[in-house]
Amino acid sequence: MVKIKTCVFISGQGSNLKNLVSYSRDKSFPIKISLVVSDNKNANGIKYAKKYKIPYVFVNTKSNNYENKIIHHLKKNKITFICLAGYMKIISEKIIKYYDRKIINIHPSLLPKFKGLNTYARVLENKEKKTGCTVHYVNNKLDSGKIVVKKTFYLSPKDNIATLKQKTQKLEYKAYPEAIVKIFRNH
Ligand code: GRF
Repeated sequence: MVKIKTCVFISGQGSNLKNLVSYSRDKSFPIKISLVVSDNKNANGIKYAKKYKIPYVFVNTKSNNYENKIIHHLKKNKITFICLAGYMKIISEKIIKYYDRKIINIHPSLLPKFKGLNTYARVLENKEKKTGCTVHYVNNKLDSGKIVVKKTFYLSPKDNIATLKQKTQKLEYKAYPEAIVKIFRNH
């Protein structure tokens, strides 16, 4: 099986990156992580790129034409699929145009509910009965592309931001690989 050359975009912790790397080492998993892009020089996730010898680049999104730099690295590494994993910057039109329907993201809520930031606090404030995570395609509207996989759990009255994060991320580690398998099932 020829694996899909994939780039993972990160900004911070990188636990989804780590999880995807671990899945991708299975020869029947459809993607190979061939590049990591980070907009944060100090992102913890970079350490996983180093550990698993995956090429990585830091892109300063404050610099002019940074999208061209990203596109340059994506092309150079023959990337055909992109997974956003805690990447805090909006993907610009320019990149979406090159990778239309080839970019997915994971979001810590049951979309279309709670798009954007501070999800856990808003889930709690809203006294939701259930929450979860969603893997979706990326288009030009925030957290709005077609949904691939959603996973749900019920809140407990004792939940707080920390416990919600922990429970949601545990589901994310199943949902993201599952979404990738679903997308490339007939590949
Ligand atoms: C994940 O919980 C994801 O839902 C959100 O950002 C978080 C990234 O976590 N988009 P990590 O960097 O993968 O640990």
